[in-house]
Amino acid sequence: MKKFIQTGVIGHPIKHSKSPLIHNYWIDHYDLKGRYEAIDIHPDDLINRLPVLFKEEGYTGFNLTIPHKEIVLAVCDEIDDVARDIGAVNTVTFKDEKIIGTNTDAYGFVTNVKETLPHFNFNGIHATILGAGGAARAIVYGLLKENVSKIYLTNRTQAKATQIKNDFNNDPRIEIMDWDSRENILDKTHLLVNTTSLGMDGQAALNIDLSPMIKGGVVCDIVYAPLMTPLLSQAKANELSIVTGIGMLLHQARPAFKAWYGIMPEVDAMLENKVLAT
Ligand code: ATR
Repeated sequence: MKKFIQTGVIGHPIKHSKSPLIHNYWIDHYDLKGRYEAIDIHPDDLINRLPVLFKEEGYTGFNLTIPHKEIVLAVCDEIDDVARDIGAVNTVTFKDEKIIGTNTDAYGFVTNVKETLPHFNFNGIHATILGAGGAARAIVYGLLKENVSKIYLTNRTQAKATQIKNDFNNDPRIEIMDWDSRENILDKTHLLVNTTSLGMDGQAALNIDLSPMIKGGVVCDIVYAPLMTPLLSQAKANELSIVTGIGMLLHQARPAFKAWYGIMPEVDAMLENKVLAT
């Protein structure tokens, strides 16, 4: 008989998370026994609460979201190289009485680009990342692993971009640019990634003119509400390729599900439509 596997996502707040829909869809789709819940835990309580959920309440794994991705490092018994290099954990698994942390955001980003544009090749390209929050950190990691030759990193608060470069051992491929000169690097940019919250429902649009961007370039937004952000609409109008944000959310969930349920799940149109409809 199949074991009932309890998993979930921990955040604060957490009620808007789409992760329960994604994982419970796969539990049904693959005819597994289990449940994935949203659990609200205050950041002050995480370090005490997480071991209890594993050791006394029988959970197998969790995703971590805002504001827990860095706090959770303190309670992991082991973290893998990816989480260590990114400096954040978004997935924990309880295995052999140990809490093991990893980070699947870089995988989610890179896989989404590859699935959307199968002919796109990261090797040797110049990328520009707008923003320097947690998502930008994971994307820098993913792009360096994919052997891009340059990452222009620009953020309203420049010190945060500089901190990322420091945390990646001052990798010479990362170049910090002034936020106000973000348009000046577009004529050298093959891949532009928006990791800021600009363009999200209720937020101002990102102020940028894409017309100087390299012909055949790609614009990727990690915002997925709306799916077609003003940035992506402008990219389309400029005949650039686009990658929407929903795929990063869906693909980052796959390795976590595999770690807990033993199956690498597929992203299908029905799942994507369900997530977009909620
Ligand atoms: P995430 O974990 O999704 O990356 P985050 O860590 O809160 O989220 O980062 C949000 C990003 O959006 C930051 O780069 C932020 O810039 P600051 O570091 O200067 O705050 C950026 N951002 C948010 N509002 C912005 C605005 N109005 N103009 C420019 N950048 C903005």
